[in-house]
Amino acid sequence: MQEIDINQQTPHKSAYTVSMDPVLNPYSPGAGNTPRALVGRDADLQAFDIAVKRIALGRHDRSVIVSGLRGVGKTVLLREYGRIAEREGWIHEHVEAREDVDFVRVVAELVRRAILRLSATKRLAAHASRAAGALKAFQIRWNLPDGGDLTLRADPLMGTADSGLLDRDLASLFNETGQLARGYDCGVLLTVDEMQFLPKDHFTDFIMGLHEVSQLNLPIMVAGAGLPSLLSAAGDARSYAERLFDFRTVGRLSSETSAAALTEPAEIEGVTWSTGALSRIIELTGGYPYFLQEFGKQAWFAAPGPDEITEQDVEVAVPLATDQLDSGFFRVRFDRTTDAERAYLEAMARVGGTEVASGAVANAMGKTTTGVAQTRDALIRRGLCYSPRHGVIAFTVPMFDQYLRRRTEWA
Ligand SMILES: Nc1ncnc2c1ncn2[C@@H]1O[C@H](COP(=O)(O)OP(=O)(O)O)[C@@H](O)[C@H]1O
Ligand SMILES: [Mg+2]
Repeated sequence: MQEIDINQQTPHKSAYTVSMDPVLNPYSPGAGNTPRALVGRDADLQAFDIAVKRIALGRHDRSVIVSGLRGVGKTVLLREYGRIAEREGWIHEHVEAREDVDFVRVVAELVRRAILRLSATKRLAAHASRAAGALKAFQIRWNLPDGGDLTLRADPLMGTADSGLLDRDLASLFNETGQLARGYDCGVLLTVDEMQFLPKDHFTDFIMGLHEVSQLNLPIMVAGAGLPSLLSAAGDARSYAERLFDFRTVGRLSSETSAAALTEPAEIEGVTWSTGALSRIIELTGGYPYFLQEFGKQAWFAAPGPDEITEQDVEVAVPLATDQLDSGFFRVRFDRTTDAERAYLEAMARVGGTEVASGAVANAMGKTTTGVAQTRDALIRRGLCYSPRHGVIAFTVPMFDQYLRRRTEWA
């Protein structure tokens, strides 16, 4: 188990008459919320820790890409990676890719922030202005604004990062940034969340650019996170991607770690879980971290206590937790869909199962596969579905089929 130093135990006197103090509720459902007990990820954290230390020593190691369904803890893991790098004295800059934001611009911004922080000490001014000059040249070539609150004072370093070939220019940019970091005896970690939103060609250019600098053993690393389709999205750059990245899949927690996710935070507050309560929640949530946090939170609220959560409390919590998930986690995805997309998702739920054949979905809609291909592609592009294999489609949100069935029952 990884110790988290936030939410340190604080003396707290409750103003509430109920026995289980709602103020002390230790569960944290919500995108990117660091859990009180980060369980089941020791191997991922250790591998990253080793890679950072190796790269800091000028040894070769891989960057990392974490993939998995929604709500399994990818963002939380990226944050932990950031903490690990910072503990080694590295600079960490984070960005979340979005469907509607130009990735070239995003990378330039990321690099700009890293250079600014590296050069904040004003030592090694020559190095810093070289990296800044490369960024200027990149910005001019790629028509990017010299934006931000803090601008870099430097003349464009013509002939660097301005060839017009994105992979080459990114390589130059990463190279100059890595050299700068090395000059400071420091390293740079760039974390990119929601990586599935990178347009395919940008993703491959990004891989190629990073691959080029990775051979120079500079202290620059990328940690990316995204939906399960990321490796296949690497396309032509796939073999480079495999060498460049440690691809790590995160998913549901085992029964044992699921139990730990619930009991460890409670223990700090002097509260225990009955065995029956634990197995019921694990059964209901399938060990998916987001659901564990939501069910844990509602069970805590429902329990009269004073210091135990029972199976009965869990039963009271089930409709509350389901309602919270339906109106939040599930609904935010569903609300952004068109009528055609909803019809497709509902047909997937009718066919049933976690993965379904695209042909079966089209059939259930009374249409041909090509007739619904556009809708299917749109759902993939927008991150609601992914294709685990050719001709197969799956939800990126765990238990989304159950949500859709609940919806149609109400309708
Ligand atoms: N290893 C873990 N153990 C316990 N809870 C976790 C773990 N990882 C994530 N969570 C919880 O799961 C939820 C989703 O985490 P998040 O990182 O946002 O997932 P993702 O980025 O994969 O959608 C959060 O409420 C978080 O507190
Ligand atoms: Mg996330």
